[in-house]
Amino acid sequence: MADFRRWRRKVGGGPRQEAAPEVDMPTGGDLNRLFSDPPLLHTWDEGQTWNTGGFSGPDLRWLADLCGAYPAAAVAETGAGCSTLAFLWATTGPVVTIAPDAELRGRIEAAASEYGVSLSSWTFLDERSELALPRLADGGHRVDVALIDGGHGWPTPFVDFCYLNRMLGNGGTLILDDLQLHSVGELARLLVHQWGWERVSDAPSQKTISLRKVSDEPFLPDWGGQPYIVERSSGQKTGYENYGLGS
Ligand SMILES: C[S@@+](CC[C@H](N)C(=O)[O-])C[C@H]1O[C@@H](n2cnc3c(N)ncnc32)[C@H](O)[C@@H]1O
Repeated sequence: MADFRRWRRKVGGGPRQEAAPEVDMPTGGDLNRLFSDPPLLHTWDEGQTWNTGGFSGPDLRWLADLCGAYPAAAVAETGAGCSTLAFLWATTGPVVTIAPDAELRGRIEAAASEYGVSLSSWTFLDERSELALPRLADGGHRVDVALIDGGHGWPTPFVDFCYLNRMLGNGGTLILDDLQLHSVGELARLLVHQWGWERVSDAPSQKTISLRKVSDEPFLPDWGGQPYIVERSSGQKTGYENYGLGS
């Protein structure tokens, strides 16, 4: 079995951004190590530095625990990384990961081997979620747990939500990561005020929340049935003055 640290050096990984204790790698992998010393799968500066991708060990444990509410949770996620390993660790159900990044897929496969995580129930779609999710939803794909953590610019998190909402049933779990970003923050504010949705728990880092879907509706109602939009629209001036769009 390849040593993940050696492999990372070979592909040009830079110094760790987070201090982590050196742990001897037991033969056959160490599943719990995923939550104490997650692999550094991401680089945002062409290999100068490597990082976990945003989820700390406790956050990864929290993600895995959310799957425990279902006997063999079917999972879909936009974006890929340590969250993928946590889901594959947590469920024997199918895990679909969508990210337009073949190299990241290779790093996840190497880390899975190193950490002893089985990939037998994994499907990786090397494409944008805006293209993959409509196809999955049209095909009747259903999930119990959905993580939105792919593209974070507007409108991608909302596009992801639109199709993952169709794929989630009553009782399903939706996870939103990176609430510090205005795009995801607005989606979270919309849903915590929305009937048919209940806030369940927050990740230890408090940048991620989970919500439970408590309705059979595949779509949200139009704006009049969205308390957040009604509240934010009431008392507003008409036209473009509201949003600084005037001349
Ligand atoms: C913050 S990282 C994902 C973190 C991941 N959940 C983890 O645990 O490491 C963002 C990811 O979104 C992917 N991504 C960016 N734009 C995307 C899009 N339009 N559709 C799907 N994935 C996208 C990137 O390839 C990257 O893997």
